[in-house]
Amino acid sequence: MDKKTFYITTPIYYPSGKAHIGHSYCTVATDAIARYKRMQGYDVMFLTGTDEHGQKIEIKAKEAGVTPKEYVDKIVAGFQDLWKLLNVSNDRFIRTTDDYHVRAVQKIFRTLYDKGYIYKGKYEGWYCTPCEAFWTETQLKDGKCPDCGREVKMASEEAYFFKLSAFGDRLLQLYEDQPDFIQPESRKNEMIRFIEQGLDDLCVSRTSFSWGIPVDFDPKHVIYVWVDALTNYITAMGYGSDDDSDYRKYWPADVHFVGKEIVRFHTIIWPAMLMALGLPLPKKVYGHGWLLFGDGTKMSKSKGNVVDPVILCSRYGVDAIRYFLLREIPFGADGLFTNEALIGRINSDLANDLGNLLSRTTAMVQKYFGGVIPAERRADPLDDELIAMATQLRAKCDENMDAFQFSAALTEIWKLIARTNKYIDETMPWVLCKDEENRPRLAAVMYNLCESLRIVSILIAPFMPETTPKIQEQLGISGDCVSYEQSAFWGKTPDGTLVQKGATLFPRIDVDKEIEALNALLLPPKTEEKPKIEGLAQIDIADFAKVELRVAEIRACEPVKRAKKLLKLSLFDGEGERTIASGIAPWYQPEDLIGHKVILVANLKPAKLCGVESNGMLLAADDGEGGVKVVFVDGVPAGSRIR
Ligand code: MSP
Repeated sequence: MDKKTFYITTPIYYPSGKAHIGHSYCTVATDAIARYKRMQGYDVMFLTGTDEHGQKIEIKAKEAGVTPKEYVDKIVAGFQDLWKLLNVSNDRFIRTTDDYHVRAVQKIFRTLYDKGYIYKGKYEGWYCTPCEAFWTETQLKDGKCPDCGREVKMASEEAYFFKLSAFGDRLLQLYEDQPDFIQPESRKNEMIRFIEQGLDDLCVSRTSFSWGIPVDFDPKHVIYVWVDALTNYITAMGYGSDDDSDYRKYWPADVHFVGKEIVRFHTIIWPAMLMALGLPLPKKVYGHGWLLFGDGTKMSKSKGNVVDPVILCSRYGVDAIRYFLLREIPFGADGLFTNEALIGRINSDLANDLGNLLSRTTAMVQKYFGGVIPAERRADPLDDELIAMATQLRAKCDENMDAFQFSAALTEIWKLIARTNKYIDETMPWVLCKDEENRPRLAAVMYNLCESLRIVSILIAPFMPETTPKIQEQLGISGDCVSYEQSAFWGKTPDGTLVQKGATLFPRIDVDKEIEALNALLLPPKTEEKPKIEGLAQIDIADFAKVELRVAEIRACEPVKRAKKLLKLSLFDGEGERTIASGIAPWYQPEDLIGHKVILVANLKPAKLCGVESNGMLLAADDGEGGVKVVFVDGVPAGSRIR
């Protein structure tokens, strides 16, 4: 019989900057579910990838002086390396620049157009010409462009629109018919309120930039990046290509995991697009919370915390990071990431609770029985609670994992670990070992400890895939007895199994030393001590006011034949043009300067330099390496006073 399929996705990430711990959070959570479902015997499809088009990336690439494709290639490779490092077991990785995706998106756009769900109209809004961007009234800042602060004007451009407005009722009906379509519940209410306010048609093409998928029947338009991105969930399965067998096998997805800020795109736009295409809808969209940092922001400007996942993994190990991400914060909620909390979890849950249980158990089995627990074992009613708890654990994990409650599943597992540690205190093996009479009882105690650890080792595998084999190796178990099936039963470790104490799973961290080391990592690298600048005598403000500094635009520039170091510049100072000579030829070509604004000392007495009458001078700085850098003030109007 064919295995039941389970299709799970992460959002596809923007490669506009390096992959970070916030991205890792969702990817690791998705990975844990994928691994859990595989363990349960599902035929799993786990998809992740990158969302590579759009104006933002086009701009970033321009700033970096490379093509958009070159720009994203580098960052995407970083994402892929990080997923490898974190043991992410994705089955597929889609890039929206992949040819098959581009072709399928064009086909989907055309189908929607042919069906009348996409039409050509006019996009109206406030337009900032230098930024080539449209803004809505509410996005403006004091009536000006929110990006550059310049004047905007009302403008309209031809664009394609998707008839989103026609889907409001069907979407509300969907939420009613499929009550768990949007999870957690609170996010559903937000979406209902949003739809009830009335849906506008969605502008789904742009002509103001080119880094995107062109509309094939009207190529000056590129397809809106969200339309391009959302379809990845079906194009990655071959939808719209010659081979759509995976699409037929895996679609509809069982769940899309997404951050809470993009739930709207996934539960309104995406289902509406699928309805328009006449395709089945995903079964569920889960909007998880954000990892917040010391200053309460979502990412990047983390105050006082080392959050680079590569550094974290190298200091604490991949499994510790995976554990922390999934244990610390309930999946639907926001939570704070701090290095203190991470180290605290590692020390208490991993080193103390789990690590100690394994090392105590293996050490005792070796000490009392040379590593092999005898078959003659005497049970006791004291064992019942432990056995009951251990054999019920799998059902509890199943239930929590079905609800994507990673933290609750791990809490259940750690309850068994705590119960097992307590069992050692209750049974007191160090007392039992003193009397030969008690050897069968001591054997039973040892066996029960190993059994409990066996079950734990199986059920933590989706969360901590590197730790599972380490524990099982020390317990000497493999094969059928470490299968998911056997995790709900007691007594599966075969007689004669050789237990061997091994390396410590999670070394304890000295908190104070570690925090100090982390702080050192956060401090900016020490710069070499520069020789002190010889100061001049102090002046008062009236002296300074004698210098007239003005912004001037370089209108023309040429070398001076008789002087290699000099450039002759023509500057517009707000009132008129004047000529100056400047000794910057070794560092600047005329074309580097023309059109730029500089600071002019406007009331300097004229002087003749190598035959050129110079009426002022421009300001430049020593660059510290014997060179010179002109001080540019582009963006400020010529003639502005500097004071
Ligand atoms: N490209 C879109 C998604 C398209 S899906 C068809 C996008 N990309 S993103 O890179 O900005 O964000 C991707 C995911 O990372 C989002 O779900 C977002 O919530 C998540 N995270 C980014 N920073 C995060 C945290 N600090 N914490 C948790 N998740 C965060 O949106």
